[in-house]
Amino acid sequence: MNVHESEKIAGMLSDIGYDAATSAEEADVIVFNTCCIRDTAEKRAYGNIGALKGLKKTNPEKIIAVVGCMTQQKGGAEALAAKFPFVDVILGTNSLDMLPILVQQKRAKTARIVVNEDPTVDVSVDLPIHRTSGTNAWINIMYGCNNFCTYCIVPYVRGRERSRAISEVLADVKQVLSEGYKEITLLGQNVDSYGSDLKDGTNFAALLKEISALPGKFRLRFMTSHPKDFNKEVVDVIASSRNICHNIHLPIQSGSNEILRRMNRKYTVEQYLDIVEYIKAKMPDVGITSDIMIGFPGETEEDFKATCDLVEKVRFSNAFTFVYSPRKGTPAAKMEQIPADVKKSRITRLVKLQNDVTKRLSDDYIGNVYEILIEDVNPKYPGTVCGRTDSGRLVTVNGDPSLIGEFCDVKITKSRSASLFGEIVTKENQ
Ligand code: 5AD
Ligand code: SF4
Repeated sequence: MNVHESEKIAGMLSDIGYDAATSAEEADVIVFNTCCIRDTAEKRAYGNIGALKGLKKTNPEKIIAVVGCMTQQKGGAEALAAKFPFVDVILGTNSLDMLPILVQQKRAKTARIVVNEDPTVDVSVDLPIHRTSGTNAWINIMYGCNNFCTYCIVPYVRGRERSRAISEVLADVKQVLSEGYKEITLLGQNVDSYGSDLKDGTNFAALLKEISALPGKFRLRFMTSHPKDFNKEVVDVIASSRNICHNIHLPIQSGSNEILRRMNRKYTVEQYLDIVEYIKAKMPDVGITSDIMIGFPGETEEDFKATCDLVEKVRFSNAFTFVYSPRKGTPAAKMEQIPADVKKSRITRLVKLQNDVTKRLSDDYIGNVYEILIEDVNPKYPGTVCGRTDSGRLVTVNGDPSLIGEFCDVKITKSRSASLFGEIVTKENQ
């Protein structure tokens, strides 16, 4: 979501004549696209913005803007303005389209600008986009979230769910396909509830069906799903389509029903396992990934062990693992917190367990042939390129950048934890 917003920022600035700079020293305009979902992201943003103080002092004509959801927290814009008096423009995600005007106004030496906005105001969707990933195009299908998980700041800073009309989404998809993109990722905080606010009978399964039926060879991905809404109808559409990837990101957060209840997740471990079983039965080659959080207030050793059991049971192909951090204004921030050393020991154990699971699953790929969409060079290994299997696994092969954007059949020869290595068997059109 944030990467895609950065593409919109780059697109708007390029429309008014700016090109990408290679360093902060060289840049005329520096835009920080912030995220406040976790404490670590917020601290990093504070550090990076603060680090520019000296540069601004020696180059007062440089324009520094801070945008993104950190500015939309209650009192967030004011706090940023007070802490960083050298920042010129502070702007929330829903007013992103004002950025070029504000940059131009600043160029014309008007005063400092802080836009403190209402997160329920609708987002401007037809912003120019400077897409940065060569093969994949992100397309927002909805904005905001209605779920209010008790740890999460997103509904407060991004407002309620707003789905884009199916005709608008389809127009964007056709546009990027005509531009030669080979992969489309549909974006939303909770894509499964797409359409529920449109009141015209549209739902996510219908949207997927329409897009996947468009002509041409391309892959379709989406994120993020919510286990309470992800349903068998969507699984059936994916399983019977020719191009929707068998890669499902389904954040479980915790393997303890008591913790899930206190997180306000509105599903149980049993319901989660039920949908996972259905997915695996329909798509045995699926890669299921997840977000898992440890250290939520009140998490006992038993709760944590239940999370580990679930990781073993589901065998996620990969997982983003997080240490809970209190977000001001959310219900969980007021609950009794658990000690930092307990959190540290649990995250270490969880990461090790997930790495073991990922490694075991990687070994299952060896010797088989998979279709890979080559996305980029792999800078770690000169002379190689990399791409993903349909299930979402990264594969590195020998090859040159001319292969980027091509589908190749690749035989997997080696694995190293989450990464796979292979040899091209056949290229597209061969
Ligand atoms: N602390 C830690 N992790 C969080 N996430 C959301 N809020 C918090 C928080 N306060 C994680 C969740 C979510 C992912 C995007 O970020 O796991 O799925
Ligand atoms: Fe946050 Fe929950 Fe909404 Fe995801 S579903 S954005 S975790 S409130």
